[in-house]
Amino acid sequence: MAAALRALAVLLWVAAAYPVVFRARPVQALAANWGTRALHPLPGDITVRLLRDNGFDKVKLFEADPNALRALGHSGIQVMLGLPNDLLASVAGSVNAAEQWVIQNVSTYVSRYGVDIRYVAVGNEPFLKSYKGKFESATLPAVQNVQAALVKAGLARQVHVTVPLNADVYESGDGKPSSGDFRPDIAGLMVSLVRFLLDNGGVLTINIYPFLSLYADANFPVDYAYFPSPGAPPSQASVQDGNVLYTNVFDANYDTLIAALEKHGLGAIPVVVGEIGWPTDGDKNANAANAQRFNQGLFDRIVAGKGTPRRPTMPDVYVFALLDEDNKSVDPGNFERHWGVFNYDGSPKYQLRLAAGRSIVPAKGVRYLSKQWCVLRQDASATDPAIAGAVGYACQYSDCTSLGAGSSCGNLDARANVSYAFNQFFQAANQQKSACNFNNLSVITTTDPSQGTCRFEIMIDTGRHELTGKSPSAAPRVALASSSWSAVLVLALVGLTTLLAC
Ligand SMILES: *[C@@H]1O[C@H](CO)[C@@H](O)[C@H](O)[C@H]1NC(C)=O
Ligand SMILES: *[C@@H]1O[C@H](CO)[C@@H](O)[C@H](O)[C@H]1NC(C)=O
Ligand SMILES: *[C@@H]1O[C@H](CO)[C@@H](O)[C@H](O)[C@H]1NC(C)=O
Ligand SMILES: *[C@@H]1O[C@H](CO)[C@@H](O)[C@H](O)[C@H]1NC(C)=O
Repeated sequence: MAAALRALAVLLWVAAAYPVVFRARPVQALAANWGTRALHPLPGDITVRLLRDNGFDKVKLFEADPNALRALGHSGIQVMLGLPNDLLASVAGSVNAAEQWVIQNVSTYVSRYGVDIRYVAVGNEPFLKSYKGKFESATLPAVQNVQAALVKAGLARQVHVTVPLNADVYESGDGKPSSGDFRPDIAGLMVSLVRFLLDNGGVLTINIYPFLSLYADANFPVDYAYFPSPGAPPSQASVQDGNVLYTNVFDANYDTLIAALEKHGLGAIPVVVGEIGWPTDGDKNANAANAQRFNQGLFDRIVAGKGTPRRPTMPDVYVFALLDEDNKSVDPGNFERHWGVFNYDGSPKYQLRLAAGRSIVPAKGVRYLSKQWCVLRQDASATDPAIAGAVGYACQYSDCTSLGAGSSCGNLDARANVSYAFNQFFQAANQQKSACNFNNLSVITTTDPSQGTCRFEIMIDTGRHELTGKSPSAAPRVALASSSWSAVLVLALVGLTTLLAC
């Protein structure tokens, strides 16, 4: 009896001390894309805590990154796991290849690490027009083989297949969503693919980018790209479709897809939004104010659960992206490295209201390199002939996308501009002394050269996280990644020396 009372007392004490443990999850939880193409990735355990602290309970990975997957084990976060386009052909070519992929990248993480994988996203925007049909024939067979492999692995009840597609797989001849249909060159393929997903409990995933509409067309009506603020008059560009008024491009775009699906008798397929967001740098329309405006409108809709005229319930929406990634390809544009709601280190870029008036909160426990920067020497001439080569070199191995016109560092004078490039290289090289040695043009300073919107960043000390990380199983890969990076950097530094010697 006394023991039982004591146990009860302890339980009550625990409940009082840790109320969060007993609090129910928010009804409308959030989902995000977690990309890992950063030179100094935010450690997995810190990223998972960042997700949880901000109410994200679903995450999408572009590949089976072991570090991310291990950190997601037993986290309560559901995972959509990507199978990259470059594996489509081999997985389409043999069931055995699909089985190997599932065993190594899905089964292992589910059973050994307790990762709650719910979807395999086969390919990433494989029907994008710019791929010129390269992945078209492999996609459906790859989906079928992955499905067969999931069945064989005994995972088919829990893990379903999907294909994330770009919004250019459908269109509307007269601009009205109700006229939506699939792009003619892939219409047959779309019908077969969606039919297969529908028959196997899968979902269709669609990526919608109002920012790219604006980026691609200088005449695109700006206010139509955003969700209307409550009480504001509808955009002049709103589309009247029968008795429905479409006031923003997201609703119109999503319903164009739904109309296309209904036209082919596929209206029963669940549709999720795989990517949507707004970048904060690297283009004149990419800044914190615009991103906040777009993402707050989006989050408000998610929290309210308010869908579109054709699908009144908001689907799962994976915001793009959780974090900035300074080593992504800039082929799409300089903005590509700046999609994060959070900076590379998990600090918020702007305020966002979540459910119940809560604000987003920063990552905890991040360790940084020392507070020092590499800058152009005061007594060096800004017209020194060696500068152009040195800056070009620095920017080849680090991220200078903030220096472009209209970007956060686009207004620096010539000297600060050079300093910015030097510092990016120095930080990318983990502040090695030899990385601030641009032909005697550079010097290390402890005075922060940041000015206005332009931040001279200090990178995450991935080495210190490696030494102190609590998850020993994650250590080998981190060590591997940072040592291969040092190898690249040693080459870069050797190149730097030769470049400057001649
Ligand atoms: C950065 O990207 C390049 C090009 O994709 C790649 O070769 C390199 O390994 C990446 N570096 C890191 C540290 O991931
Ligand atoms: C997944 O599994 C395949 C084996 O089919 C393997 O080659 C690959 O490296 C694994 N990891 C990723 C990230 O795809
Ligand atoms: C700043 O640096 C970038 C990258 O090297 C260059 O494209 C740009 O023209 C420079 N701007 C100024 C004002 O020097
Ligand atoms: C570097 O420049 C400073 C000042 O311009 C000069 O005093 C110094 O001798 C130079 N060092 C080398 C190694 O050229």
